[in-house]
Amino acid sequence: MTMKAILIDRHGDADVMQYRDTEKPSPKANEILVQVYATSVNPVDWKIRQGDLQAVTGLSFPRGVGSDFAGIVAEVGAKVTRFRIGDAVYGAVNPLMGRAHAEYVAVSESQAALKPSNMSFAEAAAVPVAAVTALQSLRDLGDIKSGQQVLINGASGGVGTYAVQVAKAMDTHVTGTCSRENFELVESLGCDRVLDYRDTDFTKEGIKYDIIFDAVGKRNFWDCQEALTPNGIYVSTLPSLEDVAASTVTLLLPGQKAKLVLAQPNGQNLTEIKTLIEVGKIRSIVDSNHALSDAIAAHRRSESHRAKGKVVISVLSET
Ligand SMILES: NC(=O)c1ccc[n+]([C@@H]2O[C@H](COP(=O)([O-])OP(=O)(O)OC[C@H]3O[C@@H](n4cnc5c(N)ncnc54)[C@H](OP(=O)(O)O)[C@@H]3O)[C@@H](O)[C@H]2O)c1
Repeated sequence: MTMKAILIDRHGDADVMQYRDTEKPSPKANEILVQVYATSVNPVDWKIRQGDLQAVTGLSFPRGVGSDFAGIVAEVGAKVTRFRIGDAVYGAVNPLMGRAHAEYVAVSESQAALKPSNMSFAEAAAVPVAAVTALQSLRDLGDIKSGQQVLINGASGGVGTYAVQVAKAMDTHVTGTCSRENFELVESLGCDRVLDYRDTDFTKEGIKYDIIFDAVGKRNFWDCQEALTPNGIYVSTLPSLEDVAASTVTLLLPGQKAKLVLAQPNGQNLTEIKTLIEVGKIRSIVDSNHALSDAIAAHRRSESHRAKGKVVISVLSET
């Protein structure tokens, strides 16, 4: 049996992606086969497509692209216990072995969860990598607590829009940075104070934060040190040399810490996020929605660094 999928035969810019026939996957014993209704784009997907991580991903082609998915379980492996055929699910495959920009994806049941009942497949496909990154950064690495002062650098992007909402769900006071044109969007997510990073440097305002989450990795711990409380935690999504050094140094010393997130989307976190979505604490901001055959345009939009929320690819019509 064949299916349509996005495949690449070499690393390169968005044009290397081809929408073509390939073999439909079969689930292993611990896997579910998901008929994909929607997938979304994360920067890691196009960084891998470009070959930025080829030391890890290798040079074997053809290969698939994409991590996030939402869809319906079409088959279950012999050892699957948590899902049944027909369940609506969402999740992410390991980005290093991306293959979710496709009509079907086989994935370990531990990497999926039931889809939030109050979201469309397109909205749900936006969630996994970005929202789990926000949750793991703020709760697991940042040790977020009610009443704290939290700053989200890059509050209007994929990770940032979920991070603002996760921080508000934890009853903190949230300052976000973005371009002025996105103030209304970020405020609509509950952000208490919004700054334009182009004209206000949050590290120089004299305000101290318990957590600075650099969702776009544009600053570093040393820049932010003065703006952290004595036990404040800086978390970044990008492993710059400065932050790798800072995380090592601060691990050995009392007081402020620098941490790097390497998000691992998993079913347990996705179930926790599903609960926050269903009680109305988290929603998806969809920047744009593209057809699978138009994945090139979707990747180009994400690569612009201007996406407001998430870039989504719809694979099957939801009606
Ligand atoms: N380590 C991990 O596990 C992990 C997981 C997920 C993502 N990441 C990384 O995290 C980064 C962000 O991911 P994403 O999905 O949020 O990306 P994204 O959606 O593409 O980010 C776009 C946003 O970046 C904002 N931005 C651009 N320059 C900025 C600056 N100088 N200061 C503040 N904001 C700025 C833009 O805001 P305006 O348009 O409002 O200016 C835009 O909303 C990527 O590099 C990604 O690879 C890492």
